[in-house]
Amino acid sequence: MKNLVKALKRCAVAGAAALAVVSLQPVSNAQAAPAPVVGGTRAAQGEFPFMVRLSMGCGGSLLTQQIVLTAAHCVSGSGNNTSITATAGVVDLQNTSGRVQVRSTKVLQAPGYNGTGKDWALIKLASPITTQATLKIATTTQYNTGTFTVAGWGSASEGGAQQRYLLKATVPFVSDATCRSYSGYSGLVASEEICAGFTAGGVDTCQGDSGGPMFRRDAAGAWIQVGIVSWGIGCARPNAPGVYSEVSTFASAITAAAATL
Ligand code: ARG
Repeated sequence: MKNLVKALKRCAVAGAAALAVVSLQPVSNAQAAPAPVVGGTRAAQGEFPFMVRLSMGCGGSLLTQQIVLTAAHCVSGSGNNTSITATAGVVDLQNTSGRVQVRSTKVLQAPGYNGTGKDWALIKLASPITTQATLKIATTTQYNTGTFTVAGWGSASEGGAQQRYLLKATVPFVSDATCRSYSGYSGLVASEEICAGFTAGGVDTCQGDSGGPMFRRDAAGAWIQVGIVSWGIGCARPNAPGVYSEVSTFASAITAAAATL
């Protein structure tokens, strides 16, 4: 099972090479009509201005105008890197007039990342994206509860195609104890990962959503990022929540690392 989890965690790497390829994997869990993220709906243009699509087939969020926060498993290491294109400003990735596309200059993968926990990375852009709002990160655990919003251009069903239009969904917090009790989740790193999803499944992030934010409203009504899409056993299956990097745990490290880029 450990290898299966690792394989799933690295899904974005495979997705990078085959962005438009529809997987032949069967959907092993037929359940309530998989509407389009799984079980989501279309985001409105401008609704989540901080959302970024990365060319290797991952999501991300604008930490600053010139730095994208994503998942460590979406990148291959740290250093100068001009191979990634970030697309922002549109829900429709094919909207060539509305979109802003900027190349990367550097990547910083979380120090100590080894495939378990610590699933965060930063991508420095060649120029700032000045037209889009950034997303602030949670610096305390106080928002690690409640209902979260997730969004991405990843699969709308397990094994399904990447999406042209940004999808969104809401998922409830799942405690570490409950999350760890599910088959395949015993390796959960409770201090570094936060789970979300419905016991019955049906709504979840999926392949290609990795690196994107999980967020909610703070006390002042502003969006605040509490998670980064990391892994799960399949997508939207019952008793198999999505696992997200726990942003509050890494907030200081993220901010400090960003200052070095
Ligand atoms: N690892 C996947 C990716 O690279 C994300 C998987 C999220 N899975 C889930 N069931 N929430 O895109």
